[in-house]
Amino acid sequence: MTTRVELCKADAVAVGTALKVENGDLILAVFNIEGTYYVTDDTCTHGPGSLSEGYIDGDVIECNFHNGQFDIKTGEVVSPPCMIPVKTYKTAVENGMVVIEVD
Ligand code: FES
Repeated sequence: MTTRVELCKADAVAVGTALKVENGDLILAVFNIEGTYYVTDDTCTHGPGSLSEGYIDGDVIECNFHNGQFDIKTGEVVSPPCMIPVKTYKTAVENGMVVIEVD
């Protein structure tokens, strides 16, 4: 079953930035890429890096630990040392809030 989870106000995440949001067991990074919101797990799949603290370049996030890169929209690895994609979530904005669907 899919659960809808409200994460934060959309205007709390400026264009070109990311915000770390914790909700229950989830630790997430909310990205605003040119006005569209995307959500991934915050923890890098390679180690302890926090993706919300990484460097955003277009739709790529570079982990600030070992500079691995992921596609923010798909979670796919763009650059090593990361090997495992980061989990992404179906994301929408409803009533000014960023909302995801969690399985
Ligand atoms: Fe992110 Fe190593 S912890 S690249």
